[in-house]
Amino acid sequence: MSVRRIGPREVQPKEFAFTAENLDWAKKQLLKFPEGRQASAVIPLMWRAQEQHEGWLPEAAIRYVADMVGMEYIRAMEVATFYTMFLLQPVGKKAHIQVCGTTPCRLRGADALFDVCKHRIAHEPFELSADGNFSWEEVECLGACVNAPMALIWKDTYEDLTPESFEKLIDGFAAGKPPKPGPQVERQFSAPQGGPTTLTDKSIYEMTSAGGNNAGAALTDNNAKKPTKGASERESPVSKNPKP
Ligand code: FES
Repeated sequence: MSVRRIGPREVQPKEFAFTAENLDWAKKQLLKFPEGRQASAVIPLMWRAQEQHEGWLPEAAIRYVADMVGMEYIRAMEVATFYTMFLLQPVGKKAHIQVCGTTPCRLRGADALFDVCKHRIAHEPFELSADGNFSWEEVECLGACVNAPMALIWKDTYEDLTPESFEKLIDGFAAGKPPKPGPQVERQFSAPQGGPTTLTDKSIYEMTSAGGNNAGAALTDNNAKKPTKGASERESPVSKNPKP
């Protein structure tokens, strides 16, 4: 479970300001919201601030964004401390690895991934590796349970991990060549590994003639989903004239 505290005073910069490019981008984001609703832009602006500031969000940046969107500092602090996407203390320069430790990932081997973090990076969460390039933490469910166990690095998720593929993932980030995000096994998204395992009998897609013989034509989406009248139209009662 993550502890959401802002980093100690000695690591906090005194000031923060967007670069000219990010400031321009942030102003455009604010225009997307109606007057008086600029607070809705707090998350994208904080994310951009975090990206600008070596992958973590200092207190000065939280205040800076709060001023930009017209939000109380405490409200902005609540947002920053609620979401684990915001990192509140210095993290590894090449990767901060958020490993899911919730039940489905635990049942599918997350413990072994934590062991890899401890021996490859540092024993404790948020402790920087000796070269300062990596850090890790445990987070709650990141919504990819069907591909458990998984980890999030910056914006991308890496799924269906094993200790071996996780080590390769760390090697990839260390070399500046991270692997493709998504499942780290041979499957597309959450489809079965090795290809489809159900509805593989092609004959079930054949159209059947009135006599029960296969006509041979495949039932495609185009001919299966012809527009028809809505149920309310089909079943509308026929009006009757009142009896004289
Ligand atoms: S339990 Fe790990 S992603 Fe949901």
